[in-house]
Amino acid sequence: MRRQWRVKRKGEISQDARFMKLALDLAKRGESWVSPNPMVGALVVVEGRVISKGYHRRFGEGHAEVEALGPLEENLQRATLYVTLEPCCHWGKTPPCTELILRKGVGRVVVGVLDPNPQVSGRGVRILREAGVEVKVGVLEEECRRLNHRFFYWMERGLPWVTLKWAQSMDGRIATASGHSQWISSLPSRRRAHRFRSIHDAVLVGVGTVAKDDPRLTVRHVRGRNPVRVILDSRLRVPDHAKVLDPELLGGETWIVTTPQAPMERSRTLEARGVRVLSVGSDPSGRVDLQELLRLLADREISSVLVEGGSQVLTSFLRAGLVQRILCFVAPLILGRGIEAVGELAVGRVDQGIRFPRYTIQRSGEEVLVDCFL
Ligand SMILES: NC(=O)c1ccc[n+]([C@@H]2O[C@H](COP(=O)([O-])OP(=O)(O)OC[C@H]3O[C@@H](n4cnc5c(N)ncnc54)[C@H](OP(=O)(O)O)[C@@H]3O)[C@@H](O)[C@H]2O)c1
Repeated sequence: MRRQWRVKRKGEISQDARFMKLALDLAKRGESWVSPNPMVGALVVVEGRVISKGYHRRFGEGHAEVEALGPLEENLQRATLYVTLEPCCHWGKTPPCTELILRKGVGRVVVGVLDPNPQVSGRGVRILREAGVEVKVGVLEEECRRLNHRFFYWMERGLPWVTLKWAQSMDGRIATASGHSQWISSLPSRRRAHRFRSIHDAVLVGVGTVAKDDPRLTVRHVRGRNPVRVILDSRLRVPDHAKVLDPELLGGETWIVTTPQAPMERSRTLEARGVRVLSVGSDPSGRVDLQELLRLLADREISSVLVEGGSQVLTSFLRAGLVQRILCFVAPLILGRGIEAVGELAVGRVDQGIRFPRYTIQRSGEEVLVDCFL
């Protein structure tokens, strides 16, 4: 049998990449609102012209494909749908997007990257192809994957993506010897830190920080949703006056993670205030076991965690090798004796330190932001 060669239309590849880039830009608008769902953008193109577009705006709301295709008539045989992530083919909070694509009679679909969920991956594409739709996969694949790197990590590993964030003086202190730390960084950097909060599903600190700083752990300097506040507190010694114990006033949820050593009575008192108390096993030093904690968070749809300190908690995450990214704001400030950002890691030689292969160094207000990925 003679092989049929399909002749590439001139400029076809770059045209697909160009429209996928537009879909990616649309998808980014959902940042701070859609997680633990992925950000997704979609465009409908007919003869090189965009006739409709959409993106996933908020968790629980319509998918990008529904936004883009919904307002259009059926019989879109001449149209190409560009979508940054494989269309879903299962019932979730909304009906399967593959059904909508078929109902609208879309002739061609271009997909950025396959869905990482092993139960779904490739099925959406297969359903469309079996129904006679021309499907192309992998246009700007790396960019589409990178856009949702926290979602991909959670889906593929069954653990949340972990980012550590702190502000330090030039001599590596996150607080003075008396524990005073507000503020080491300038307002532009704190605003940036709030944006980082809004793109993670949870923000986590140790009970030491709650006792010393009484933080609210909410998103205030930028627009975005409050992440779940997670406090590590092995014996439930969180002070009664702590702001995090008033979730109704703050908005969003507070989860206190403790160990079986905590008194039951105290747990009940805290729950009566609207806080969720979760118990996990303890590590050899009697504190919250971080591996178990992350598995529990992943099961509760926490796809990413921003760990904001203090020193003991930052050290525990690094020592356990559970960190994917570090955001370190360095201020033009010397504090001398004080609380170190990171404590003992048993590093004897410089080449035994944790070196980050990928990083950027940026100006941020009066600080330098060192942003490292493992
Ligand atoms: N500059 C910054 O960016 C920044 C940010 C945050 C905090 N800070 C400063 O940091 C200081 C607080 O730091 P800190 O080191 O004293 O306290 P911390 O790290 O906030 O909290 C430590 C406590 O968390 C509990 N914990 C439970 N499980 C743990 C685990 N697996 N690993 C580590 N801790 C666990 C332990 O208390 P239990 O054993 O009772 O559970 C432990 O004593 C404050 O002065 C604050 O101002 C600065």
